[in-house]
Parts: sequence; C-alpha cells; structure tokens
Amino acid sequence: MTTEISISEVKKHKSKKSLWMIIHNDVYDVTKFLEEHPGGEDTLLENAGKDGTQPFEDVGHSEDARELLKKFKIGTLPAAEKRKDVPQNCNTLKWALLALAGAIIIGVVLKKTMG
Ligand code: HEM
Repeated sequence: MTTEISISEVKKHKSKKSLWMIIHNDVYDVTKFLEEHPGGEDTLLENAGKDGTQPFEDVGHSEDARELLKKFKIGTLPAAEKRKDVPQNCNTLKWALLALAGAIIIGVVLKKTMG
C-alpha cells in the first residue's frame, strides 16, 4: 500500500531540515540528497514543498536520476489532488517515432526490391 500525502502536508517540508517534493504525482523526501545533488542545493530548495515535475523534466534528467528518485519516494498524492496535465517522460513518443522510421525504411526497401 502506498501512503497518501496531501499537497498541504508537502508544503510544510520546504527547508534544508526537511525537504519534500512532488514529481509526477508522487512525493519524495530528498532531504538527504540535498548535498549530493549534481544540480546543486538551490535547484532543490527552489522547488521544496512544491511540484517540481516541470523543472525536473526541463533539465532532462537521465534514467539513473529517475532510478535514484525511487529511493526517496515516501508516498503519493491523494487521487483528488493528482494532476493530469503534467508532462510525462517522453520515452513513449521516442519509441513511436523510431517505429515509424523503421516502417518507412522497410517500405522503401520493399518498393525497391519489388519493382
Ligand atoms: C528531487 C529529485 C531529483 C533527483 C533525484 C535529481 C537527480 C539528479 C542527478 C542524478 C543528476 C546528474 C545528471 C543526471 O543523472 O541526469 C542531476 C542533475 C541536475 N539536476 Fe537534478 N535531481 C532532482 C531534482 C532536480 C530539480 C527539481 C531540479 C530543478 C531545476 C534539478 C536540476 C538539475 C540540474 C540543473 C542538473 C545538471 C547539473 C549539471 O550537469 O551540471 N534537479 N539531478
């Protein structure tokens, strides 16, 4: 079972002593990560107690960073507070484009070999 944590609760944790952040509707406690973040303390503090999805995605964090994130997860937002308009990891789009490119190449090859 995942713990539900409301936005108002997350807002209380916005200092170096306790730093929570929402990313893709999940809540993370990144207090311990503050000093280790390759992107610096300030970027995390700016988004402390808030939804950091947009800045997190804008930077284009690696798969490693996303894996790391899992370690800090402490809960998820209640269904009523979840946002549906947040940008998702665009991996799906990448694969769709790759598949499309593959289909076009196969099409061209087929056309050449068949006549
Ligand atoms: C709270 C969860 C976060 C985690 C676990 C995290 C983790 C990481 C990691 C592992 C890197 C190294 C590069 C990579 O693997 O992509 C990185 C880089 C970076 N992060 Fe974050 N990050 C978080 C949030 C944020 C936020 C909210 C910002 C806001 C702008 C941010 C800004 C940056 C920047 C600017 C870099 C690039 C640093 C450089 O290469 O000079 N990060 N982060």
